[in-house]
Amino acid sequence: MSVKSNETKILRKLDLTRLPNHIAIIMDGNGRWATRRGLPRSYGHKAGCENLKKIIINLSDLGIKNASFFAFSTENWKRPQDEIDSIFNSVREYLHEDSHVLIERGIKLTYIGDLKRLPTDLVDAFKRVMEETKDCNKMTLNLAINYSGREEIVRAANKAITNGKQITVEDFDKLLDLPEMPAPDFVIRTSGEQRLSNFMLYQMAYSELFFTKVLWPSFTNKDLQKALINFQHRERRFGGLK
Ligand code: FPP
Repeated sequence: MSVKSNETKILRKLDLTRLPNHIAIIMDGNGRWATRRGLPRSYGHKAGCENLKKIIINLSDLGIKNASFFAFSTENWKRPQDEIDSIFNSVREYLHEDSHVLIERGIKLTYIGDLKRLPTDLVDAFKRVMEETKDCNKMTLNLAINYSGREEIVRAANKAITNGKQITVEDFDKLLDLPEMPAPDFVIRTSGEQRLSNFMLYQMAYSELFFTKVLWPSFTNKDLQKALINFQHRERRFGGLK
């Protein structure tokens, strides 16, 4: 077992040959993290974004091939406008300031969801970074933005109807927002909530779920690796026998 960079210290119990192919993370608890410190919720989203940057580096150091993060749900539009703006500002800043990190590390940016309702400059920034990283092949970083699992399923169903013929599960897979992305093997949700909140509902049919009480801005590389060690003790049967 080798440590790939100085940034990621690998826990001894983690087997680098048995990592999930696709890890999906519901980054919950930004608001509570800020409130507990007497800060406005927007600080929590800023801290959450800083943590996301670190965890992306940690995942890349570990050699994880695919990572999805729930950045903004279709339900999040119900939040106050200044909070929505603070989340978008974090995404905007990340795309402007960190695209070089993605390129250096061979990380391709993709998204699931519907970019249409987002501010135009944010859509442009997404498209620019996706274009700049389209040939990167070490890891795919998938951001769920203005995303709803149910809406993704309905979008795919509508594409099937437009195609006008009955389809199989395999055909349906190809109609999802990002057909080339394998289903998540492992899903982490921070902050103690134990639900999926409309995240990748179709793709999570056989995902292993992991819930931790740690709030997202406080979720460290060590927490990540402890979660991965837990994943490595799961027996995955996909409905079959041992
Ligand atoms: C849930 O915590 C978190 C969100 C709704 C936003 C997550 C977004 C980020 C971490 C920034 C994204 C940045 C990029 C670059 C993709 P909450 O606000 O619901 O927390 P609470 O349950 O404690 O209120």
